[in-house]
Amino acid sequence: MKKIYLIANWKMQLNKSDSVRLAVEVCKSASATNSFCATADKNLEVVLCPSYVHLSNVARKIKNSGIKLGAQNAFYHDKGSYTGEVSPSQLKELEVDYVIIGHSERREYLNETDEDVNRKVKITLENNLVPIICVGETMQEKQDEKADIVIIKQINKALQDIELKDNQKLIIAYEPVWVIGTGKAVDPKEAEHAIEVIKYNLMEHFSEEIIDKHISIVYGGSVNADNINDFLKIDLIEGALVGGASLSADKFIPIIKNIK
Ligand code: PGA
Repeated sequence: MKKIYLIANWKMQLNKSDSVRLAVEVCKSASATNSFCATADKNLEVVLCPSYVHLSNVARKIKNSGIKLGAQNAFYHDKGSYTGEVSPSQLKELEVDYVIIGHSERREYLNETDEDVNRKVKITLENNLVPIICVGETMQEKQDEKADIVIIKQINKALQDIELKDNQKLIIAYEPVWVIGTGKAVDPKEAEHAIEVIKYNLMEHFSEEIIDKHISIVYGGSVNADNINDFLKIDLIEGALVGGASLSADKFIPIIKNIK
């Protein structure tokens, strides 16, 4: 049975009490239905990614629930005079297991480059955290028919000089930038094509065995309870990165429950 990752990217949308309340509701639903923890029959890994400042509070609420904690970013040094930054080892101390890296919003608003992404992936792996590397084309790149090239370049750079050791894992999130936050996901066939491109490209970096054992690919962009299975039924898609529909229990829990 394939393992499915459902990653909630709360961005900068929730305050402390909303974050804690939502974490509690997700946990309650988990224990009520017993339908999503690593050991349950769905083999579903739910990852909540609150803002940095709410990580500890959410960590306390999800302890022993089977639900995992993720951060939305990490810096590419582990220690030093970098005012305002947060290192992977500091995140590890907060019981974080996953880190979103290179989200299109960070690339667009914070000038995050492919080089930054590569450095962050390296140090995240060194700290035994799982990087969730976001790649995807903009509307302009799609119209210029450059989507495949853009994705290949992002992957090549992100994975430059990366080797995966036995206990390390990484996730690639294909997120077409032009559907993020629009409420309208891409046609699953289009996502399948992009993910095939990603998979072929991964073979330039790793053996098939390493890819199978250590790398998962998820789709992100306007995923909701109605369309989640359209994506998950595609063999190559092993989960979803969810923004808007992860921000409230009444939208997020139905996604979890609908997963077939
Ligand atoms: P969305 O966001 O689900 O609101 O489209 C996804 C993301 O930005 O990761």
